[in-house]
Amino acid sequence: MSLSSFPNPLRNPSVAIVGATGAVGGELIRCLEDRAFPLSRLRLLASQRSAGRALSFRGAPAPVETLDADSFRGIDLALFAADTATARTYAPHATAAGAVVIDNSSAFRMDLDCPLVVPEVNLETLSGHRGVIANPNCVAILACVAVAPLQRRFGLRRLQLSTYQAASGAGAPAMDELAQATEAYLAGRSYAPRVLRHPYAFNLFSHDAEVDPQSGYNGEELKVMAETRRILGSFNLPIGVTCVRVPVLRAHAIALSLELDAPVPPAAIREALAEAPGVCVVDDREANHFPMPVEAQGQGEVLVGRIRRDLGDPSGRSVALFLAGDQLLKGAALNAVQIAERLLVA
Ligand code: A2P
Repeated sequence: MSLSSFPNPLRNPSVAIVGATGAVGGELIRCLEDRAFPLSRLRLLASQRSAGRALSFRGAPAPVETLDADSFRGIDLALFAADTATARTYAPHATAAGAVVIDNSSAFRMDLDCPLVVPEVNLETLSGHRGVIANPNCVAILACVAVAPLQRRFGLRRLQLSTYQAASGAGAPAMDELAQATEAYLAGRSYAPRVLRHPYAFNLFSHDAEVDPQSGYNGEELKVMAETRRILGSFNLPIGVTCVRVPVLRAHAIALSLELDAPVPPAAIREALAEAPGVCVVDDREANHFPMPVEAQGQGEVLVGRIRRDLGDPSGRSVALFLAGDQLLKGAALNAVQIAERLLVA
């Protein structure tokens, strides 16, 4: 796709990161460095709590400024990595100042004026943007990178997901809580949870998002279902999801079952995945070596394995997979920077 077909192509843009002191913000800084993103200037923004802090960018100290309505003057591209309320309040200031916004929160994800983009899957939707582009939920991104190539080749009738989600999805304070709770547990000390509701060391629990009393699904599960349908362009796709928080720092894992249009041999599934952009097949049955958070951590690709027929579906049309992907990278910061790269003038 020709880059100039997108509105507001960017040349050597001045860039702002909102939420630069957070878990995703820090990874955004590193992705811009690692990928030598061509920018003229970087402004780091956070709340009043971070006033006076300095981070580092390309070997030089970079001061953190307090976000306000004027922060976007002269900014061409604003990468938001804060909460939904901050995005709703400040994204309009950024677009009014002429910046393109890529937002990591859920504020704009179901707004049809805001494309919800995974570059490997639905890059073509970016051309409809009107200034705000939504970066999807981390589980939806990781699942779609693996599911979309199979959907394209074999047709998809139904999707079932169970997640094993890392602390990073709840931000830097939750990662700290996991480390502190584990230290306390090993030292035989008690630890009162401050960020998440339940004991985190050597435990797992249903995702901390609020549960919808009607459906019984929590907010994370509802987001994953709605966003996955939108990214796959399949608005009536039946999807069932169970989201669970596990004591892992920063990479999510997901068990999937996909019902395809017809039975497909696992070898053909493996071949389609091996050719898919953004996927790395890790599927060594002999060594019992499959995707693991420790190996997904720090990687841009989604690791996919345990490729087998789902024997729970007597029709033979369903295939089972297991994947792991870095929640902070492909699940958040890297996906946002990959979108930004597509906005650059070639
Ligand atoms: P701060 O560190 O000053 O609180 P995480 O998801 O890891 O918790 O990070 C959230 C990020 O969003 C942090 O950088 C945090 O800044 C920032 N943030 C939270 N609330 C606001 C706000 N009202 N204005 C600007 N930045 C905010």
